[in-house]
Amino acid sequence: MRAFSFSVFLVFFLMVACTSESTAQQFPYNKQLLKSIPVAFAKGAAQYRVMMRELPSDKFPKNYNPAFKKFETSNSGWWCSGFYPGSLLYLYEQTKDKSLLIETQRILKVLEKEQYNTSTHDLGFMMYCSFGNLQRMFPSDDTKSILLKSAASLSTRFNPAVGCIKSWNSKDSSDFIVIIDNMMNLELLFYATKVSGDSSFYKIATTHANTTMKHHFRDDNSSYHVVNYDKNTGAVRERKTAQGYADGSAWARGQAWGLYGYTMTYRETKDPVYLQMAEKIADYVLDHKNLPEDGIPYWDYNAPDIPHAFRDASAGAIIAAGLLELCKYTGKEQANKYFLAADKILRSLSTANYTAAPGTNGGFIIEHSVGHLPAKSEINVGITYADYYYIEALKRYKELAKGKK
Ligand code: GLY
Repeated sequence: MRAFSFSVFLVFFLMVACTSESTAQQFPYNKQLLKSIPVAFAKGAAQYRVMMRELPSDKFPKNYNPAFKKFETSNSGWWCSGFYPGSLLYLYEQTKDKSLLIETQRILKVLEKEQYNTSTHDLGFMMYCSFGNLQRMFPSDDTKSILLKSAASLSTRFNPAVGCIKSWNSKDSSDFIVIIDNMMNLELLFYATKVSGDSSFYKIATTHANTTMKHHFRDDNSSYHVVNYDKNTGAVRERKTAQGYADGSAWARGQAWGLYGYTMTYRETKDPVYLQMAEKIADYVLDHKNLPEDGIPYWDYNAPDIPHAFRDASAGAIIAAGLLELCKYTGKEQANKYFLAADKILRSLSTANYTAAPGTNGGFIIEHSVGHLPAKSEINVGITYADYYYIEALKRYKELAKGKK
């Protein structure tokens, strides 16, 4: 009998060990980086206290351009409005500095009305990076209701004939434009199904992910930035770029959104096709001959002036955050490769090459991102989402080292 119970226990133990995420996996953590993470959070909090003082009360930080010493802000409808409260919440979580939480509560009141906004596909960025983190840290029915309304607003942009959520309008009203960035907005929909039990959000999210997987990727696993579909038939009309160097080039942040987006979609579905997609993107960005030694990509992998092209630190931060999740799900050899790449990116971003000196950069933590080079906009600047994903990546690194899920 005793032998029987022991073998039952053993089988149960092995089942749990095999089905749990490999968070217990040992990675070669960099001791110096681990030691510097609390300091980076404290310095980041100090930067955000600087930014708080600069910010007009109804505005959101957008970027800081060192060439013109200009701090640019936006209203709540800009796609980046969720990153400021999201970064404040992450920094509050790590430092317990109350002033950051008070500022979060103030700015979320300004953002709240965007839950009704059906004119943008970016509600995932805007509402989940902000209210999603608030709900994770301080769950309440009010926040849940804001998130569910936001998910409902986002869902109005889904077209079943195309199988996607619409990104942008076009002069031709029969066009249906979708950008790779849109993968990031699906996290809000997965959350909405989990808390409401309404599977329609989940179905929209997975349909969008499947359609994007089919039409956005090239044979080498890089992605186009923009796909234009016929809104009535779903046929692909054109594949092109908006923010990249050329239609056929690999815009760095687009690759980063895809990597992070498919990793998150795998987390939410456990469907291995999304894991494979994320791995293919990761291998594309990490094995690329034009990836610089410090791991921070040029703004486009095919920029014509490499090695003199601008870097995009934001793409580096998003890739690091994505890889630090992907390495938990993938096989041992790949996991090590992804972990080490993220480790390198974080060590690079944490040096004076990319981290702004205290009190500079409009309060942004990270320098040297590129928003939209073809439009000559936001070139070599501090930008909200570089900070958000850098802080998130540091948090993920710290939690991975602690074996925390
Ligand atoms: N369109 C979002 C981005 O610039 O990455």
